[in-house]
Amino acid sequence: MYKADEKWKNVDQYFIDHLVKEDEILLDVKNSAKRNGLPAHEVAPNQGKFLSILAEMINAKRVLEFGTMAGYSTIWFARAVGDNGQVVTLEVNKKCAEIARENFIKAKVAHIVQLIEGPALESARKLVENKVEPFDLIFIDADKPNNPKYLELAIELVKPGGIIIGDNVVRDGEVCNPDSEDDSVQGVRKFISAMAENPLLSATAIQTVGLKGWDGFSIAIVKK
Ligand code: DHB
Ligand code: MG
Repeated sequence: MYKADEKWKNVDQYFIDHLVKEDEILLDVKNSAKRNGLPAHEVAPNQGKFLSILAEMINAKRVLEFGTMAGYSTIWFARAVGDNGQVVTLEVNKKCAEIARENFIKAKVAHIVQLIEGPALESARKLVENKVEPFDLIFIDADKPNNPKYLELAIELVKPGGIIIGDNVVRDGEVCNPDSEDDSVQGVRKFISAMAENPLLSATAIQTVGLKGWDGFSIAIVKK
């Protein structure tokens, strides 16, 4: 790994210790993932808080999330939208859905969160068909090969002026390798190109380092 890794981690831990007090609930959500053998794919605490601040900045009341896992980022969003808001989160894995539902009850956000179990593509298509109230913020954090399709659905489901955030867009640096044979890399590359080419979107992407190593996210504002 990289020499800087230890330093990145220490700095992240310093910021987290000072600025991002995770309560027992968030710590327990991470442990629930670990106990159940899920990969530690939840966002870092300082990134979870960053997402919740972004949601509060735009006064988001409706958030859609592709990919729930144990519900860690979902809870950050639920706290941001508050009791009068709603977070709809899409999860294909039965075990994740079960764990996440328990976590939403423990976190006292079950009245804010609607978890839809099943393939996110199908669930999101149904949301479009059912003409649900559009979302202020959409977080794409599920299987990366489907990112281009999730983006199309997100554009249909987002409010004018709303934002679409994509997690894990760096792929260990392979995102800039056009010849990569990794479906996740190609999914993210098509996702980036689709944002670039869509006149409705103004997008950028940021690399990050920290507790979880080297990664990054994209953010787009939708002008429709
Ligand atoms: C991966 C996916 C994630 O959502 C994440 O936060 C980290 C890694 C992955 O597919 O490798
Ligand atoms: Mg992620």
